[in-house]
Amino acid sequence: MAGPLADKHVILGVTGSIASYKAVDLASKLVQAGALVDVIMTYGATQFVTPLAFRSITHREVVTETYDVNSEFANEHVALARRADIVVIAPATVNCIAKLAVGLADDPLTTTVIATSAPLLVAPAMDADMYAHPATQENLEKLRRRGVAIAGPAPGRLASGLVGMGRLVEPIDLLGHISATLGRKGDLAGRTIVVSAGGTQEPIDPVRVITNHSSGKMGYALAEAVRDRGARAVLVTAPTGLPNPPLVEVVNVQTADQMAQAVKREVYGADALIMAAAVADYRPASAAEQKIKKSDDELTIELAKTTDILDTVRGNFLRVGFAAESENLVANATDKVIRKSLDLIVANDITDSDSGFGSDTNKVVLIDRELKVDELPLLTKYEVGNRILDRIRDLLANSD
Ligand code: PMT
Repeated sequence: MAGPLADKHVILGVTGSIASYKAVDLASKLVQAGALVDVIMTYGATQFVTPLAFRSITHREVVTETYDVNSEFANEHVALARRADIVVIAPATVNCIAKLAVGLADDPLTTTVIATSAPLLVAPAMDADMYAHPATQENLEKLRRRGVAIAGPAPGRLASGLVGMGRLVEPIDLLGHISATLGRKGDLAGRTIVVSAGGTQEPIDPVRVITNHSSGKMGYALAEAVRDRGARAVLVTAPTGLPNPPLVEVVNVQTADQMAQAVKREVYGADALIMAAAVADYRPASAAEQKIKKSDDELTIELAKTTDILDTVRGNFLRVGFAAESENLVANATDKVIRKSLDLIVANDITDSDSGFGSDTNKVVLIDRELKVDELPLLTKYEVGNRILDRIRDLLANSD
């Protein structure tokens, strides 16, 4: 099943830093995501990690010399630059960043960068003082103005023992940065799409909540798909165990009421709202201030209805709902699309183990405002997200 990196040709530039070892993990993750990875190492990088490590993972020749007569790229040292979908430099040292800013081409990596028209993503890694130096900041600013994407650095413990800004962004997060950079000029560029995710939690007392089985995976995958097609992705999320997706604006909420307020605020000026969250329909009428003590008696909790966010948030944006159904999937979802006058509803069969709550895949039926029914096969949640976004793109194009 295809993700954003499948069949993409990634040139991974590795420069000399203690963080170079993390580039081996990044190369591995890229290969697992279906990318074709060509690694170019500077001399400094080869002092930290061997070319063999990368070759073993990518099953491709690793470039270390500009003029290597034995290399398949020897006759045309810009061959890689022409084939690339993206060039990623991770880790990028302060020296490499300075060379890029000036436009130097004195090693295979900088030569490739200057010869490519593919997007460039730079992930700096260095000591905090080197990062804070005005020369480094100016160089990074120069690159940004030139359209280069910069990932990080992240704060944390550095090799010097200092704690500060300078750590390489973790490889798993770099995958998100790479997907986003690849999709920067995608078909939703310039749009803002708000996505909700997760199961709201309604407090009974300070330690107990009423919630549901939503893991947040569907909403998070949707937000990533939004980002990877060039749009501004805003994710309003109830608590989940998932990490924040890179380059997605995350708004954390707990209850249905908080989600309603956040959605109302974030959807202002947006092009579409997609409610993938499983929002509680009822909450305890009042939450006890202290922990409710166990007793032999039965405990009755009075519930009050929550606001239906999707039904009450209206404006100049598309409204897309989900319908989690355990029976009469199409009939129940059709009823919701009419009742809430939605532009699209995603009817979600939650009876299969590989669909609905908690799974990485989903089986859904799309029903639009003309009540046209489109049954999709079992797909990853990311692919389901893209199918929904195809429909949103078309609806937005028709309403422009
Ligand atoms: O998070 P995962 O584990 O990946 O699971 C994904 C999912 C099953 C939660 C998701 O695909 C899904 O179906 N989400 C909607 C679940 C749901 O609450 O459905 P519903 O039929 O109760 O609500 C219909 C629509 O109204 C939904 O878009 C819901 O977000 C919205 N709603 C509901 C109640 C409420 N108070 N306000 C709302 O806006």
